[in-house]
Amino acid sequence: MTMHDPIKSPDKATPTPSLIERASEMYDFRKVMSVDASKLPAAPAAPAPLAAPEPVQAPEPVAQAVSQPVQPSVTPPIATPVAAPVRPRASSLPVARIDRDRLRESAFIVPDGPVTSISEEFRIIKRRLLASILAEANAGLGVAAQRILICSAQPNEGKTYSAINLALSIATEKDHDVLLVDADFAKPSILSSLGITGQLGLMDALADPAVAVEDCIIPTDIDGLSVLPAGRQTNTDSEYLASARTLEVLARLTEGHPRRIVIFDSPPLLAASPAAALAQHVGHALMVVRADVTSERALRDALGLISGCNQIQLLLNGVKFSPSGRSFGSYYGYGE
Ligand SMILES: Nc1ncnc2c1ncn2[C@@H]1O[C@H](COP(=O)(O)OP(=O)(O)OP(=O)(O)O)[C@@H](O)[C@H]1O
Ligand SMILES: [Mg+2]
Repeated sequence: MTMHDPIKSPDKATPTPSLIERASEMYDFRKVMSVDASKLPAAPAAPAPLAAPEPVQAPEPVAQAVSQPVQPSVTPPIATPVAAPVRPRASSLPVARIDRDRLRESAFIVPDGPVTSISEEFRIIKRRLLASILAEANAGLGVAAQRILICSAQPNEGKTYSAINLALSIATEKDHDVLLVDADFAKPSILSSLGITGQLGLMDALADPAVAVEDCIIPTDIDGLSVLPAGRQTNTDSEYLASARTLEVLARLTEGHPRRIVIFDSPPLLAASPAAALAQHVGHALMVVRADVTSERALRDALGLISGCNQIQLLLNGVKFSPSGRSFGSYYGYGE
């Protein structure tokens, strides 16, 4: 993989809007999605395109009319299970060292590294999410407000890339720490992306009451960042995720950590069911949309699967810049 193309410095006299602003200009997601506008804040965008993205599926033409527009239902926040206060337990696992060179090579944010277009864009995405988390917490959403699901319609759209970069960005916050959870049980890649190893994980804790999820959390040498592996895949991952034990296990991830943000990396919504099951437990879903690759129909279908989530935001990934700063390619008719 190659590093991102550098984004040209804004001209001082006529400042170039940020990628996010430009993406918002170019893509009218509310028009595309026909969903409740209050649930779809302006799309943030992940920076810098891939050198050569491999479309998973050829883009489909824009559907002129959609018979059943996605209408996410407003669901009440998930109730936190009532339990006796439990003293948070620190993980007994050794601190894992995260390979900074590997982060740099894979275009991830490097802690204490120079400010880059990537770190800046994720900083903006983070700020918006943290503001939304605060609003939801103040509105009484409970611990679900502290959880963010990173999802996408199809494979290869940049979920893991976005989850890791967002986690690295939040880890730099003075008032928050972040727990990055690999919830892609069939194809876990968080640990390998960070160059660390682990044994037990979320699915082990869900499947076996004898496994304490706190004991599966790997502390890292990046201040404020810890990681929960996916654990052993079962044939009934989604059933475990839908079970009552999930409420209890997820609650333990933030017990004693009122400022912790939990980020779940997940499998593609249209290929596997865990993301839809997890969407029931999170306050926020960040739907990664690969510019020029994700089809409108796939996006609509995927949004329908997470409609129970309180806050859904779209993250536009792989946006291309032109020298004029105008063209992002097209988004199936909604571009130029
Ligand atoms: N904006 C980006 N800039 C550079 N590389 C990126 C970007 N987005 C994704 N990639 C790279 O593209 C590849 C696919 O991304 P990623 O693994 O995050 O996709 P995914 O949605 O998690 O896929 P899967 O559904 O298979 O888990 C990875 O090599 C990742 O590092
Ligand atoms: Mg992934």
